[in-house]
Amino acid sequence: MRFEFFRVRSWFLALAVLTGCLAQPALAQSETPAKKIGIIGAGNIGSTFGTFWVKAGYDVLFASRHPEELKPLVEKLGPKAHLGTPAEALTYADAVFLAVPYKAYPEFGKEHAAALKGKIVIDAGNATAARDGELRAEVDQNGIGVTSQKYLPEARIARAFNAANFKVFEKNTGRPAPRMAIPIAGDDPKAVETARTLVSDAGFDPVVVGALDAAKKFQMGQPGFGLELTAPELKEKLGVAP
Ligand SMILES: NC(=O)c1ccc[n+]([C@@H]2O[C@H](COP(=O)([O-])OP(=O)(O)OC[C@H]3O[C@@H](n4cnc5c(N)ncnc54)[C@H](OP(=O)(O)O)[C@@H]3O)[C@@H](O)[C@H]2O)c1
Repeated sequence: MRFEFFRVRSWFLALAVLTGCLAQPALAQSETPAKKIGIIGAGNIGSTFGTFWVKAGYDVLFASRHPEELKPLVEKLGPKAHLGTPAEALTYADAVFLAVPYKAYPEFGKEHAAALKGKIVIDAGNATAARDGELRAEVDQNGIGVTSQKYLPEARIARAFNAANFKVFEKNTGRPAPRMAIPIAGDDPKAVETARTLVSDAGFDPVVVGALDAAKKFQMGQPGFGLELTAPELKEKLGVAP
């Protein structure tokens, strides 16, 4: 009887270990939150949010084509801040924050096509006519989310952090409730979830506006751009259900 009890218990233990092992990769793939962030384009907006995330406990790699120029910033932020090239950021990070001039997107997408495949890209770029030329017309016609996806075809894109100036974000980060809201749009659920978490951890409230196509509602030149609102106010402005 006692022998039978141990045999049954061992069988259950073996089953539990086996199912635990099998369940592990699925969990890791679908639910592990991004903890290593790469900032590609560590200029005004990139260094602003990279700094917020270092302070929130993320490991952040600040990338530049001339990494030595970012040394003072990285040294000031301490051991959670790292330095590298855009290619190194793509290898290192669970998710990258892309904040380069929009005219660089086509070339960037081609140069880093392999590394961008399946990579979560939090896309903060805006297209301006003065700086980005014909791309602004394309963005006005097709919407910026769809245009980013065209140039970074295999990336998992969420649009976020584009709709206000970095000084506005600096002023509002971590303010007491009601916090400033940041709009997000994306087709990929994990990219959108990552953007939501990064918005919260930077001290703001996320508002998911819709799929990537809905990013046009808060692109430069549209009524959803340049606002400094709370989440309920932004939802009302952009027609998002409360
Ligand atoms: N400024 C804002 O408040 C703000 C707010 C929201 C969104 N945005 C958008 O975010 C993007 C960046 O704006 P920003 O004002 O932060 O610009 P910025 O201060 O000029 O920084 C842009 C960074 O992009 C990098 N870069 C430039 N050309 C590149 C290329 N061909 N390939 C890779 N990296 C390149 C540069 O880094 P290295 O030269 O060191 O490589 C530079 O540090 C723009 O699309 C802008 O519209 C800006």
